[in-house]
Amino acid sequence: MLRHMFHRVKGSYDIIPESEETWKESSLWQHFEKTARFLSSLYGFKEIRTPIFEHTEVFTRSAGEESDVVSKEMYTFFDKAERSLSLRPELTAPIVRAFIENNLHQNECDRFFYIGPCFRYDRMQKGRYRQFHQFGVELFSSKDPYHDAETIYFLLDLYKNLGLKNTSLRINSIGDKEIRQNFAKALQDYFKHFFNDLSPDSQRRFQINPLRILDSKEECDKEISKNAPQITEFLTPSKRTFFQDVLRILDSLKVSYEIDGSLVRGLDYYCDTVFEVVSTNDLGAQNALGGGGRYDGLMKEMGGRDLPGLGFATGIERILLSMSAEGQITQKAEGPFYYFIPLSPPCKELCFTLMTKLRSDQKSASCFSKNYTLKKGLAEASKLNAKYAILVGEEELHSKIVTVKCLSTREEKKIPLSNLETLSEIFYA
Ligand code: HAM
Repeated sequence: MLRHMFHRVKGSYDIIPESEETWKESSLWQHFEKTARFLSSLYGFKEIRTPIFEHTEVFTRSAGEESDVVSKEMYTFFDKAERSLSLRPELTAPIVRAFIENNLHQNECDRFFYIGPCFRYDRMQKGRYRQFHQFGVELFSSKDPYHDAETIYFLLDLYKNLGLKNTSLRINSIGDKEIRQNFAKALQDYFKHFFNDLSPDSQRRFQINPLRILDSKEECDKEISKNAPQITEFLTPSKRTFFQDVLRILDSLKVSYEIDGSLVRGLDYYCDTVFEVVSTNDLGAQNALGGGGRYDGLMKEMGGRDLPGLGFATGIERILLSMSAEGQITQKAEGPFYYFIPLSPPCKELCFTLMTKLRSDQKSASCFSKNYTLKKGLAEASKLNAKYAILVGEEELHSKIVTVKCLSTREEKKIPLSNLETLSEIFYA
């Protein structure tokens, strides 16, 4: 057996043209990206691309030192000038950084979308990778509940457009800092009775940020958290009204949701509306497809103006896994439109000339370049998913009339070279 010298880094994978695991096929990724970009333009979002690494403080100041993402999962290193840099574990903080740095505030609601890789050093399992990809949106400058509802609707619309049916939306409001401080005290009062049964991580969280216990992935913590107080009990009347407004707008858009009082999200910057969409397919433990919420204080905290923000991010791997679980993956990568099969060495030159000409007219074309046997050439054309095979032998070379085979119908016709560009009309296929 051939021994490989190099392997992928654990927790990463290759996206390739064809794979047993269809979610790794590049055509599916392209389909996802096309859909996400199309919807982004429908909803008025413009693309933003930021570097994959940032100064570490961008993340510690935003997601919080105590969040799992920052405290355990970040790829942090020092560069040659001893700067602490981190591969981005998420994109909200980098987008806020870029918004401030490039002075991007222009509208009553500034809208951005992004697609790209993120990095989290976590235990590998199905749906959880160390390099994964997010599609997300961020809206700045608006404190209008219509925008909360619109953001949630966009996320659900994306899933719908990709053909996903088995999704479920959970939503909550976590109010402001003062509300969360009161809630944290109530949580400590509750959790102190179960302190010894909490996981070691949650025992540490008990002092520093007891809200994080609600977000723990450990079974023992989850069990104890079931009867913990819920943050909704602590909301002030104005926060309650804002949340009710978001729900009312969702109702008017016929969106179904479950209010989940224990949903607090794993990053520190959130306030008010938070939400998560889970897949109800059997994806194992990693069933959160996407999530997001408001983060009104973050821009100021990061040195910018006091402008509100909100958004979502969704994991592309989990979406594609879900599509595969729901049988939504039927696309076969498109092959070349014209596939030339030269049947002897002198025919090859004509095939290459024609292929190059078609390509310069923006038609996809390819050419079989081995063996000069019809059988092998046709087998290759099918394998590549080509539309028409064009057979060029000595006779065709002299007559300038070639044999064209439509690979979907197996129909064959003799066509003059000058008519090659109208094959679709000639075959109706
Ligand atoms: P998040 O919930 O940490 O939120 O991540 C969003 C999505 O990324 C998750 O729902 C999941 O689908 C995917 N994801 C996270 N970690 C992994 C992993 N290790 N492997 C595969 N997929 C993963 C955020 O990142 C926030 N920035 C979302 C946001 C945007 N909030 C406001 N704006």
